[in-house]
Amino acid sequence: MCGIVGLIARDDVVNKILEGLERLEYRGYDSAGIATIHEGKLDRRRSEGKLRALKEVCFHAPLQGTIGIGHTRWATHGPAIEANAHPHANHRIALVHNGIIENFSILKKDLETRYTFESQTDTEVIVYLIEDELAKDQNPLKALQAAVKKLKGTYAIAVLFKESPDTLYAVRQGSPLVLGISEKASYLGSDAISLAPWVKQLCYLEDGDLAELTLGHVTLYNREDQKVQRPFVANPMATENISKGPYRHYMLKEIFEQSTVLSQGLQHILEKEAHHLHAPQGDIDFKAIESLSIIACGTSYYAAMVAKYWFEKYAHIPVDVDIASEFRYRHPVFTKNHACFFISQSGETLDTLAALELSKKHALTLGIVNVPQSSIARAAHHVVFTHAGPEIGVASTKAFTCQLLTLLTLALEAARQRKYLSAREEESMIQSLRSLPGLVHQVLINNKMEAVAQTILKAPHVIFLGRGTQYPIALEGALKLKEISYIPSQAYASGELKHGPIALIDEHVAIFILAPFDAWFEKSAGNIQEIHARKGHMTVFTDEEGAEHLQTMLPGVFHLGKNLILLPKVDPLLHPFLYVLPLQLLSYYTGMLKGTDVDQPRNLAKSVTVE
Ligand code: M6R
Repeated sequence: MCGIVGLIARDDVVNKILEGLERLEYRGYDSAGIATIHEGKLDRRRSEGKLRALKEVCFHAPLQGTIGIGHTRWATHGPAIEANAHPHANHRIALVHNGIIENFSILKKDLETRYTFESQTDTEVIVYLIEDELAKDQNPLKALQAAVKKLKGTYAIAVLFKESPDTLYAVRQGSPLVLGISEKASYLGSDAISLAPWVKQLCYLEDGDLAELTLGHVTLYNREDQKVQRPFVANPMATENISKGPYRHYMLKEIFEQSTVLSQGLQHILEKEAHHLHAPQGDIDFKAIESLSIIACGTSYYAAMVAKYWFEKYAHIPVDVDIASEFRYRHPVFTKNHACFFISQSGETLDTLAALELSKKHALTLGIVNVPQSSIARAAHHVVFTHAGPEIGVASTKAFTCQLLTLLTLALEAARQRKYLSAREEESMIQSLRSLPGLVHQVLINNKMEAVAQTILKAPHVIFLGRGTQYPIALEGALKLKEISYIPSQAYASGELKHGPIALIDEHVAIFILAPFDAWFEKSAGNIQEIHARKGHMTVFTDEEGAEHLQTMLPGVFHLGKNLILLPKVDPLLHPFLYVLPLQLLSYYTGMLKGTDVDQPRNLAKSVTVE
């Protein structure tokens, strides 16, 4: 949440900062701003709305400077108006911040007796805390070191001081910051993507670190104000091509990329002609694990829910799945030989990271992340990468199916180590997995979801139902639809329908039912009868056998390609991968038809680095 870019160069930095912010807009996009020092003067431009509004402002009132900081905001304290946009500044300090200052009201009460606040943000207190320290004759470095010691909460901060026009300062506590140095410039950013085209080597600040950046040089201090060295490592994003290609939106591109990324993911675990899966984390001793917790947020949490079915069914390990923000505060009990897995696309989700930190002393921890070098990747005892490539659309799509693939291979590795998987079963699963990329491609190109999306535009409410691994997929479908189309959507385990949700059903509500012809089909068919009896408007996703059955059961009710969507008949192992695809497309097309910003839906941010 919130993106930060900072630069010191020989030439003007304004356009480069705007370019860097563009790559960070996925982190927040309700207002943006930039500040520079030019000819001894601190100046800034800010604007409400997306980055393009700031660019417009900078076009009409140009800003110059060879040192500057920029920010794209996701509002926490105070609405998305220009006054609350960063940088916050006084006559000699300008700063940008990502995170939350938890003790800001106490600090503000005191500071208000001496300073006039211009915004409702928590961030502005930092400006006056530093100003207080400067007034004690401290130099910028010492003033910043003293000021941040008064802060509680999470922060990544970049600061300009009018008196130090050649130095950019930055501090990290809980929110990510990276820096890079080239001969021509020194760079600061919230993540590897922001600096991708500029530097091949990155230095990740650790919590408590303060960086003093000058042209081509950096000095780092730890929280005890001692000089420290941190390694520079290869920028994992340096070779990635981050563009929409021929697609109108990142979300659509990322949905269609799934057959490719899953195929690449399979290459990591399946050698040619191999008879065994190579689990991405083969050094975990699953025989020693007696219980497992899988912890995550949002879409990653639904991947965890699917994994519970797999670990219990194939590896016979009892699994708890937990929402990270609940887990971290509910005094979880760690049993003997407990393992905790943490799933996160970004690897930066604050609640998941906090839950991981809490578990590290009590359990073996594994981070399952998409972004290499992210905080979760670096904090966990073990790490597995999901290899989805950069996901820019705020709604998670390809990251989810790649998480599923990683989790499935871990579950099967556990099953093999614990001797619950015979060679024959494994061979047949490998066959099924080999067919996955082709099946994904087939489902995507044959999809009819644009037409289905038309049918729900006026629905006041949408319900998704599923059983077994289709239940978390229903939850993911509902999350995706509300994120992108803003239509209220909920999901239930189909068996729960008559325990309350059935009261919602009338001829206006749209109901989507995931019912592959599997062990649960007969039960789902019962739900379909009940919904039909109450005039519910249903669309069923199933395979040929399921379709035949439904058309016989309720003649004239279901029409192929309209309210009966056919998916290939596959090994049930693959159901979650295939059945989520039309739901992703449904949300995309519904958003398109409603005219929402599908890549940057309102109020959301890709990387949730605040509580
Ligand atoms: O980066 P993470 O996987 O930790 O993010 C977790 C959620 O914030 C994320 O999945 C969110 O729910 C997405 N917007 C879903 O599309």
